Amino acid sequence: MGQPRSVFVDETVFDFNYVPPRLLHRDTELRFLTNLFRFIIDTPYEMSQRAIIVGGVGSGKTALAQRFGKDLEKEAERRRVRARYIHVNCRENKGSLFSVLLRAVRYFRNNFPDRGFSASELLDTLMRILDEEDTQLVLGLDEVDTLIEKEGGDAIYNLTRVQEERQEGPRRLSLICISKDPEVFRSLDRSTLSTLQRNVVRMSEYTQPQLADILVGRAEMAFRPGAVSEEIVEFISELAEFEHGDARYAIDVLWGAGKRADTAYSQEVHPEHVREAASNLFQALRTEEVGQLSRHEQMVLLGVARHFLHSREPYATTGEVELSYGVVCEEHGEEPRGHTQFWKYLNQLKGLGVISSRLQTSERGRTQLISLPKVPAEKLEREMTRILEKG
Ligand SMILES: Nc1ncnc2c1ncn2[C@@H]1O[C@H](COP(=O)(O)OP(=O)(O)OP(=O)(O)O)[C@@H](O)[C@H]1O
Ligand SMILES: [Mg+2]
Repeated sequence: MGQPRSVFVDETVFDFNYVPPRLLHRDTELRFLTNLFRFIIDTPYEMSQRAIIVGGVGSGKTALAQRFGKDLEKEAERRRVRARYIHVNCRENKGSLFSVLLRAVRYFRNNFPDRGFSASELLDTLMRILDEEDTQLVLGLDEVDTLIEKEGGDAIYNLTRVQEERQEGPRRLSLICISKDPEVFRSLDRSTLSTLQRNVVRMSEYTQPQLADILVGRAEMAFRPGAVSEEIVEFISELAEFEHGDARYAIDVLWGAGKRADTAYSQEVHPEHVREAASNLFQALRTEEVGQLSRHEQMVLLGVARHFLHSREPYATTGEVELSYGVVCEEHGEEPRGHTQFWKYLNQLKGLGVISSRLQTSERGRTQLISLPKVPAEKLEREMTRILEKG
């Protein structure tokens, strides 16, 4: 017997530290950042610069900074200019300036001792090393809010001042501060803030089509051709749009769905795999709430579950769901309610967040499409059958 074929060809693109070769839909942001730091290549050692990247969870802040850093190093090498980008996550360093600086120092001197120095001595050491290496450094401080919260605004002030104090001689240290929350910068003193504020990159929430492009990009590298259909990409991108355009959520669900496809020996990712992956991240089905629904609402929900249990499509028309509801009613010896009432039930379920719906416009008019975003159909079917049997 042969090994069952995995849907994946390369799972390393899901690695936490993976930097995508191309950042989609962030061209303007990347260009802005590149232009801000252009002097490093064009007029080396003559300036230093600071910038802020702000934006919500999974909006691509870390990816943007790291992509910028890699491109900068490549361009510097091509133009034979000395420049480095170092990315440090402040939260992983518990917001300690000392640990953050130690990371940077160890990038150049990997055996540098972790004791016997204060943070400000480490900063002097870092500057000395930059002199010795005769290089320029852009330091990316990711999740910088943890640093500001722990050390106060002085930490950033010191990092910017160290360069300004050296009036003479080459400029070597530039900063990129990254944070979800722009409010943290308020606690900085006015002069530090004013230079930072001029250079803000704001990352907007990704829209559903943008998330779909990001998913396609990742899926093409990670999956066997044909394992992830367009419908699956659309389905996941819609879930992620709902999570405030979080690209990480989208990619995690894609990965999780692939894992479940493998577990089920499936050659392709099905909507049920997506629902299983999504439901593991957030618990969507609250049993008490479902228990309090009216009997017919519960039967509609069972109808929805039944439909998706047998369908390979992520979306159903309301007509399909109504049919399925009719069958459930028959099984339970009940007369199905009329169309208007059925719609009200659907809206009620939508309000609870168990199902979601959207309008699709085509030549034949507008159709309401229903999906089950976060509960596997199998789990819902089991649960609803149990609840309805209890009466
Ligand atoms: N424009 C993009 N093109 C391709 N991949 C992207 C893009 N934006 C984000 N990603 C991917 O989405 C995931 C989340 O992005 P990233 O880690 O940069 O978000 P973040 O804004 O730093 O989130 P957080 O605030 O939670 O740290 C990563 O896997 C990243 O590679
Ligand atoms: Mg990040």
